[in-house]
Amino acid sequence: MKSREYDQETETVHGGRNLDKKNGPVGMPIYQSATFEVSDNAQQLRATHTDMFYTRYGNPTHTAAQDAIAALEKTEAALLFASGMAAITGAILGLVKSGDHIVAQRDIYGGTTKFLGSWLPKLGVETTFVDSTDYEQHERAIRPNTRLLYVESPTNPTLRVIDLRKISLVAKKHGLVSLIDSTFATPINQRPAEFGIDLVLHSGTKYFGGHSDVLCGIVAGSRELLQKIWETRTTLGGVMDPHAAWLILRGMKTMAVRVQRQNENALRVAQFLASQPEVRGVHYPFLEGHAQRALAIEQMSGGGGVLSFEVNGTGEEAKRVTESLRLFTLAPSLGGVESLVSIPVLTSHAMIPAEHRAKMGVTEQLIRLSVGVENVDDLIADLKQALSAVTSARETIHAV
Ligand SMILES: Cc1ncc(COP(=O)(O)O)c(C=O)c1O
Repeated sequence: MKSREYDQETETVHGGRNLDKKNGPVGMPIYQSATFEVSDNAQQLRATHTDMFYTRYGNPTHTAAQDAIAALEKTEAALLFASGMAAITGAILGLVKSGDHIVAQRDIYGGTTKFLGSWLPKLGVETTFVDSTDYEQHERAIRPNTRLLYVESPTNPTLRVIDLRKISLVAKKHGLVSLIDSTFATPINQRPAEFGIDLVLHSGTKYFGGHSDVLCGIVAGSRELLQKIWETRTTLGGVMDPHAAWLILRGMKTMAVRVQRQNENALRVAQFLASQPEVRGVHYPFLEGHAQRALAIEQMSGGGGVLSFEVNGTGEEAKRVTESLRLFTLAPSLGGVESLVSIPVLTSHAMIPAEHRAKMGVTEQLIRLSVGVENVDDLIADLKQALSAVTSARETIHAV
């Protein structure tokens, strides 16, 4: 792709496409091939490091999607993986060795917590988890053998916002590689590389795909760091199928319009929930009263499509609310065009110890919503009727 600077809305549609090339297909073809033919063995040797050797190493459909992602994230390059967890584990394993140490914020995706807290120690890599917004604690946790500083913003599922400039300064001061899971923000709302973060990770399963029908992982950053991570990817093998890469490329074309609508819908839903007596707390970065709202507005162009809230009652009542919803589908994941609802202690954070969860503020009453692109008044009406199910159940108990 030619290097050029367009707005995000334009890059989502045209990124990865050479606008000067004529007489070619408008849609990127799917190179649904595991291997590529060469004319002789000398060419075979040259092909090894290209996207026309063997699909575990690379594939032209991957390249088109990767170029488009790098243009959006404003990084030198990007790499696709088979899932968000393949990208996270591949990036980390590509950069550490036995005896190394990682500093990570405490409230991050449950799968990442499990990998850092339970899997990496088996390979001799230790992680210290720190309070997400206490940057002095981040710095105090750094040791001579620390290699990585790992953060997520906004956080899953409590929507805390991390100061990306501070994180990047701490990492640079101590010679660490900084990594961020930017899944909730999307490159439409936030581009961490502009704040000096080294590697940007995504579960592309969410907003990049946008239709809850494909798994995808993304790592974006400098060519130098991605070279090490590419070697890890080809060895561990967590590579995307070319058809899935094409679905990501197609999904990206509408990402800007989807995310802009999701930003608007989620803010309206958050404002509605904040006014309801059955609700105890609403976590949404752009909502009045959010602890890091000013920072969120400075770093992000929209609050994203995810929010969470606590039911003013018991865990059983929170379950009743989620089961009473009709438009919000009870399912894990987020970022698709359809609205989803889940209870993090039963889904995204089920695999991490209750004590660790409690420190993150992930309670039994916490409900996470992924707001889609539906009509927002319909979504609010659905929430209203589901919350009233709690009140009417209580009234029935009292009447008995
Ligand atoms: C913030 C975040 N990061 C990473 C992941 C893992 O992504 P995947 O399910 O694509 O492996 C998820 C999944 O829900 C997530 O929410």
